[in-house]
Amino acid sequence: MRALSRPLILNWLNAFMRMLARGCSSSARPAEELHVPLRGGLGQCRGGQVYLVGAGSGDAELLTLKAVRLLMQADAVVYDRLVGDDVLALIPHHTERYYVGKARGHHSVPQDEIGALMVALAQQGKSVVRLKGGDPAVFGRMGEELDALAAAQVPATIVPGITAASAAAACMGIPLTDRGHAQQLRFVTAQLCREEGTPDWASLARKDETLVFYMGLSKVAAICQGLRQAGLPDEWPIMLVANASQPSQQSLVGSLASMPDMLAKNPLPSPCLIVVGSVVQRVATSPAGKSIDVCAASLL
Ligand SMILES: C[S@@+](CC[C@H](N)C(=O)[O-])C[C@H]1O[C@@H](n2cnc3c(N)ncnc32)[C@H](O)[C@@H]1O
Repeated sequence: MRALSRPLILNWLNAFMRMLARGCSSSARPAEELHVPLRGGLGQCRGGQVYLVGAGSGDAELLTLKAVRLLMQADAVVYDRLVGDDVLALIPHHTERYYVGKARGHHSVPQDEIGALMVALAQQGKSVVRLKGGDPAVFGRMGEELDALAAAQVPATIVPGITAASAAAACMGIPLTDRGHAQQLRFVTAQLCREEGTPDWASLARKDETLVFYMGLSKVAAICQGLRQAGLPDEWPIMLVANASQPSQQSLVGSLASMPDMLAKNPLPSPCLIVVGSVVQRVATSPAGKSIDVCAASLL
């Protein structure tokens, strides 16, 4: 592991905090007065170890301080397609980088090759950050990566990140749960809508719950149809948010009956999240969401 002095890392973290302060109101403390109040000092980034780190939803300001520190300390970073450019820009130039995401027109690096790469780097004595979009524990194949590391007796540490659901809800100005609307929250992979698998629509069609579908942009019509057939009303609210928390964020707000046509007329890019539930009604009255069919993000 390359040795970075604590003062140097603290300087970096303080620079990061100054970056956070940019854009705050004029009544905010001047950026240069901000310091990171880390009691007990900074942690170590150990050689021979892999850190499974959440990169958040793309906005670098949504990284945890621990993620930033590890990115600055690690010998090697193995990263995915959904990690934002601003986050990658925080990695020092001397750090080894390995891209294992899907290139345009190509397949993703197979999962066993990713595991083998992390094991090989750790066994060379390097400290390795495995950087994954959002939270590594949410549809991030983290279980398989932990298994690969455990099989090679490589120690692993998990650093959570802001998952796309949290980022999308925040940027649209709505809660995911609400005392009066949704007492339950379910994260669902829309990959269940593939031919060989069918979601349990009857169990999903509840009015007291918020459903968040990941990886579902091409399954919107099937989701709307499945939920309507299972008993949710045609006018039940649904929201699509693409590139949540990024300057390119786009959204559509409609109903189960209207959304397939709305999306056909206003195609959204990937990655895109689908939120179904009465909490979506709040978008129309929220300062961040305005009354919209298609909106550009009102980013903080
Ligand atoms: C393989 S999953 C990874 C989820 C990630 N681990 C997380 O916690 O956000 C990829 C899916 O996450 C969603 N996603 C990730 N980042 C997003 C973003 N910035 N905006 C909207 N959806 C996003 C999309 O549904 C995408 O198809």
